[in-house]
Amino acid sequence: MWDAEYRSGRYAGDGPVPMVRRAIATLSERGLSGARGVYLGCGNGRNYVPLREAGLALDGVDVSPVAIAALLARAPRPREGASLTCGDLMGLEPDSPYAYVVAIQSLMHGTLAEAARRFAKVDSLLAPGGLLFLRINTAASEVTRAHEALEETPLGGRTVRYLGGERDGLVIHFFTEAEIRSLLPGYSRVGPTTTHVVPRTPPETGQWTQLEAVLQKPA
Ligand SMILES: C[S@@+](CC[C@H](N)C(=O)[O-])C[C@H]1O[C@@H](n2cnc3c(N)ncnc32)[C@H](O)[C@@H]1O
Repeated sequence: MWDAEYRSGRYAGDGPVPMVRRAIATLSERGLSGARGVYLGCGNGRNYVPLREAGLALDGVDVSPVAIAALLARAPRPREGASLTCGDLMGLEPDSPYAYVVAIQSLMHGTLAEAARRFAKVDSLLAPGGLLFLRINTAASEVTRAHEALEETPLGGRTVRYLGGERDGLVIHFFTEAEIRSLLPGYSRVGPTTTHVVPRTPPETGQWTQLEAVLQKPA
């Protein structure tokens, strides 16, 4: 499905989201600009490439070969020492844990139980004290395409499955902050959590609400 989205121009002309600038500043303030990190679901590079151009030693992984090809067309020479992998983030097994993980709109696939396994993977990828730069859909988002509701969770989240069109069958979870806290027990917040209301691309109507948060794993 993501291959089809990228072939039809998804994110082609889009610039980076605000979390990119925040990640660069936070890593710099903490003396971590040279530390090794990974971007889960790096897509066509609209965020990954500016992070790498800021000098970060940032690995990337994405399941879509079309996305990785678009990223390489944008920035043909990966930074020395940074690897790009086409595959499932759940298969990542680094030699040593990362100082930070970037996950921008990439951990929302599946039901809450499936999302929980992905958050557990994030935790396993991070070193103690490591940072998670997270941007994710919230339950305040509107879903105007044909869909069915799959679940409403005790902490206020919901999961939908799209019906028909190019997203047919895609299952997406919309989170609340309380759910994110419960998925990452013991993590602390670094700075404010911000929310961003993004109009969907016409002819689709409605909006996505996304939150951005920097979270720190307990040391
Ligand atoms: C909404 S897009 C966001 C892409 C990018 N982070 C950005 O903001 O431009 C979600 C991305 O996650 C990737 N993705 C989804 N599931 C994945 C998985 N299990 N492993 C790796 N990448 C995945 C998709 O291919 C897609 O590029």
